[in-house]
Amino acid sequence: MVLTDMSSVAIQTENLSISFNGMQIVKDLSVSFPKNKLSVLIGRSGSGKTTLLRSFNRLNECLDGSTTTGKVIVTLGGTPHDIYSGVIPCEELRRRVGMVFQTPNVLPNSIQNNLLIPLKLALRIQGSEAESRMEHALKQAGLWSEVCDRLKSPATNLSGGQQQRLCIARAMVLQPEILLLDEPSASLDFYATRTIEDLLESLSTEYTTIVVSHSLAQAQRLADRLYVFSSGELVQTLSKEEVQDNAVMQKTVESLF
Ligand SMILES: Nc1ncnc2c1ncn2[C@@H]1O[C@H](COP(=O)(O)OP(=O)(O)O)[C@@H](O)[C@H]1O
Ligand SMILES: [Mg+2]
Repeated sequence: MVLTDMSSVAIQTENLSISFNGMQIVKDLSVSFPKNKLSVLIGRSGSGKTTLLRSFNRLNECLDGSTTTGKVIVTLGGTPHDIYSGVIPCEELRRRVGMVFQTPNVLPNSIQNNLLIPLKLALRIQGSEAESRMEHALKQAGLWSEVCDRLKSPATNLSGGQQQRLCIARAMVLQPEILLLDEPSASLDFYATRTIEDLLESLSTEYTTIVVSHSLAQAQRLADRLYVFSSGELVQTLSKEEVQDNAVMQKTVESLF
């Protein structure tokens, strides 16, 4: 599905194909993701969701044996960038298109250094400006009140849900325009999952958010638009109204499993 009004598009792929060691994982995909909305991708395990998400900030290139053809156009600061043409440097792309992974991957360092180190390395920001940006990102991630009195303690001492919110804060502190989240609550319990979902909902009006979800109930709660994948192909796109219609969702589930 390709949206026609380009000013409302954050990411658009054109005939995107991705292979690993010659095996095609994403197949000739042309799809658009709207700006400042929460898009959810669902599909069976192995259908290529993570691979697709990684193509939006060129992370597949960090893996051996991957080949990408076709285009990914990412609109940043109102300007569309053909990201595989090499015009926008990878570090800048990955800062502006932040990613949060399935398993929280905090740095084995203090809570504060999880944000201060990326700020220093990616943006050369240190001192009081770095500290105020850190506080802002931790507040955005709904974590500040839980950690403000122990910023110097190890991040690995936090609960799983807190660690995942720290990973979200670590992406946010670089002030991205697009947030990619790959099954961000897959390893969390019910309460931590709800906290993450509330957080994503609150961020989604200001940021373009693309979330891979393993849960249909979560997709139903969150999605402004739902993309259903099967074997590397987009088989269905549903609007928010359709997602909230149980009969439509039931049909979608039946087509998938
Ligand atoms: N780094 C990799 N090297 C080789 N094959 C990979 C790699 N990453 C993913 N794949 C393959 O791509 C297919 C899709 O994987 P993935 O994108 O992780 O699917 P999903 O996220 O939908 O479960 C799988 O068959 C997987 O084995
Ligand atoms: Mg995956």
